[in-house]
Amino acid sequence: MNEIIHSLLNRRSVRKYEDRQVPDELLDQVLSAGLYAPTGMNRQNVVMVAVRDRETRDLLSRLNAAVMGAEHDPFYGAPCVIVILGDEETYPIVENGSLVLGNLMNAAHALGLGSCWIHRAKQVFDSPEGKELLKKWGLPENLRGIGNCILGYPMENPEAKPRLEGRIVKIG
Ligand SMILES: Cc1cc2nc3c(=O)[nH]c(=O)nc-3n(C[C@H](O)[C@H](O)[C@H](O)COP(=O)(O)O)c2cc1C
Repeated sequence: MNEIIHSLLNRRSVRKYEDRQVPDELLDQVLSAGLYAPTGMNRQNVVMVAVRDRETRDLLSRLNAAVMGAEHDPFYGAPCVIVILGDEETYPIVENGSLVLGNLMNAAHALGLGSCWIHRAKQVFDSPEGKELLKKWGLPENLRGIGNCILGYPMENPEAKPRLEGRIVKIG
């Protein structure tokens, strides 16, 4: 099988991580894959914020958990979180941001890292605490949260769940 197709079929969401940080050498490659995702009308209206600073990572985790009224770490101990944000003055942001997230997760897998999309970025970055973070990072406040991609060295290798029937239709 073609190695890229093989990698796409074998990427899984990872929910158990080593304590080891993701080095620049790998993080930069993952971020480049996000940068080159297609965007509608080439708007390139998606921003990625890679967070490895422990304090900021933990704050994002707490804000994310608070959206669910929970106290556990929704980032499953991953040491790195890439926040995906889209400029709400432009269109489309959810589609473009989702493709960026897909590229990040597939690139991570190709490099031997684990990843998982973690939701609730919209609620976090609509909140006053989220807006405060944007300000601190020197980013405009019209950025909306689309999703988070957690990254780290995987401590599990989950099996793919069975594919549901009837999801491919071939005409001709
Ligand atoms: C839009 C979206 C939101 C997701 N949000 C979460 C999340 O908040 N927490 C989580 O553990 N997994 C989340 N996931 C991961 C899915 O649960 C996972 O992709 C799905 O179970 C299929 O497993 P696989 O990625 O290993 O194929 C999300 C995935 C997508 C695409």
